[in-house]
Amino acid sequence: MDLADIGVTGLATMGRNLARNLARHGYAVAVHNRSHSRTEALVKEFGGEGTFIPSEDLAAFVASLKRPRRAIIMVKAGAGTDAVIDQLADLMEPGDMIVDGGNAHFEDTRRREAALRERGLHFVGTGISGGEEGALNGPSIMPGGSKESWEALGPILQDISAKVDGVPCSVHVGPDGAGHFVKMVHNGIEYSDMQLIAESYDLLRQALGATPAELAEVFREWNRGELDSYLIEITAEVLDQVDSETGKAFVDVVVDQAEQKGTGRWTVQSALDLGVPVTGIAEATFARALSGHPEQRAAARSLAGPALSGVGGRELIEDVRQALYASKIVAYAQGFDQMAAASKEYGWDLDLGAMATIWRGGCIIRAKFLDRIRSAYDANPNLPTLLADPTFAGALEAAQESWRRVVTTAVQIGVPTPGFSSALAYYDGLRRDRLPAALVQGLRDFFGAHTYRRVDKEGTFHTDWSGDRAERPA
Ligand code: 6PG
Repeated sequence: MDLADIGVTGLATMGRNLARNLARHGYAVAVHNRSHSRTEALVKEFGGEGTFIPSEDLAAFVASLKRPRRAIIMVKAGAGTDAVIDQLADLMEPGDMIVDGGNAHFEDTRRREAALRERGLHFVGTGISGGEEGALNGPSIMPGGSKESWEALGPILQDISAKVDGVPCSVHVGPDGAGHFVKMVHNGIEYSDMQLIAESYDLLRQALGATPAELAEVFREWNRGELDSYLIEITAEVLDQVDSETGKAFVDVVVDQAEQKGTGRWTVQSALDLGVPVTGIAEATFARALSGHPEQRAAARSLAGPALSGVGGRELIEDVRQALYASKIVAYAQGFDQMAAASKEYGWDLDLGAMATIWRGGCIIRAKFLDRIRSAYDANPNLPTLLADPTFAGALEAAQESWRRVVTTAVQIGVPTPGFSSALAYYDGLRRDRLPAALVQGLRDFFGAHTYRRVDKEGTFHTDWSGDRAERPA
């Protein structure tokens, strides 16, 4: 019997499309799903695309794989993943590889990798971005795990991934949970990108009284310049959509409560642990949370707002474009800071420029802009912040007047722009020569003897606030 080069278990949309992508690239693909009808449907509908080897149960699935075996799990992240991993591991032999292509939490991946390593198996937690279409036609693939597993899997993953200028959108990200961590931050940035786009739309609609269809044209125009990206492109599509039932703009018939499956929240939780201010991602996550409290929103509807509603003219459009670009630079800078901090904390040795490279195509945040990030890290791999790269510093300088006008306008007419405002506050915070953190330190020392350091000499000090107010070394 001919054996398969690789297998996919879990044949919902993403798994099915990934299996088809592999088959279309000439790999013999073992396929399995808990309910066999899905496997049968795949083979029946798409069997002509390549070689599929279907199995009804996991034992037959594993037996149909060439050694060392390569099995990709495409199930919804959670407890179910552990069950499938356990079953597969029991059927496998040392040197075999289990790949988890779901959106698992990176700590779960670290735990699973360590447990399987003990048994001589390779566990590869991999981020796969690009949705259904990407899985089929070329996603961005972010695998973690051992170097040996990358040697066996890398050529296949690079083969089926998206390519930009002939460069595959997949590299070995780093050991254990590194791949899922990077995918998590990708999703956090995705939240932030979408929030900034939503604020741009909201502000322009409120301030100028523009219609969704008119704004679709604005986004289409923006997509021809430095904002060129998948998310801006599909924003124009969504804003142009008309509801066939009511004839209204599609955005006006959708319930305005943004949901999430949790990767944005995880990004913020991890950033808090690492002490990295990812304000763009946090504001985007909280904005979704605020939208999801209809009872509070109803109770607050009658609260006072400004008298002013619409302001300004068409020049606001260019100002918003600049604010969007500047805030996007900040959000990415923060996300990359988080990856740098995690790399240090977990010993991953992440190549940040390579992360920008594999996000250039296939994934949801794909954008021209990522080329500039890659160039920034090429020029200086130890860049303390992306904001300090000369190209980005220049872009921020060019944008900052517009950015300030946009935040001012939003405040004046009462349109919430937490993404724009917090990004600007972060920018101004980082630029400051002296921060009021010195006063915070003083207060901490006053009420809790928490001590402070001085600008003019080494050491730690405490002032006797309740006594003679003299300073002593702590
Ligand atoms: C991708 C996406 C994807 C994610 C969705 C939903 O890279 O293809 O990030 O992995 O599941 O974007 O995320 P939320 O439901 O949390 O918005």
